Amino acid sequence: MKKDITCRADIELLINTFYEKVKKDNLLSQFFEKIKWDRHLNIMYDFWENIIFQTGSYVGNPMNIHEKLAGKMQLNKNDFKRWIKLFLKSIDELFEGTNADLARNRAISIASVMQNKFIAAKKKA
Ligand code: HEM
Repeated sequence: MKKDITCRADIELLINTFYEKVKKDNLLSQFFEKIKWDRHLNIMYDFWENIIFQTGSYVGNPMNIHEKLAGKMQLNKNDFKRWIKLFLKSIDELFEGTNADLARNRAISIASVMQNKFIAAKKKA
C-alpha cells in the first residue's frame, strides 16, 4: 500500500517526479526551456505545501503568471490535458490517501479555471 503525502519531502518528491515527466514531454517541455529550475521548483514546493498543509509559504499569483505565459506562447486544450495527465500519474505512482486526493482535486480545478480563462480569452481576441 502507498502512503499519503505527509510532509514537505513528499511534496518535493511529487513535484520532482512530475517535472521529470514534463521535461521529457513532447508538448510541455517547450514551455520550460528557459526556466531557472532551482527557483521554479522551490516556488512549486511552496505552492503545493500551502495547498496541502496551509503553511502560508506561497504568496504568488499563478493566474497572472499563466496569463502572461499564454500571451507569449500558444497554450491549448491539449497542453492542459497533458499537464493534468502527468500530474495525476505522478500522484498515482507515489501516493494515496486524503492529501493525495486533495492534490488531485486542486490540480484539476485550477487547471480547469486556467483553461477556461486563457483559452477562451485567446479565442475572443
Ligand atoms: C499547460 C499547462 C501549464 C503550463 C504549460 C505551465 C507552465 C508554467 C511555467 C512555464 C511557469 C513558470 C513561469 C515563470 O516563472 O515565468 C509556471 C509557473 C507556475 N505554475 Fe504552471 N503551467 C501549467 C499549468 C499549471 C497548473 C494547472 C497549475 C496549478 C495547479 C500551475 C501552477 C503553477 C505555479 C504555482 C507556478 C509558479 C507561479 C509563481 O512563480 O508564483 N501551472 N507554469
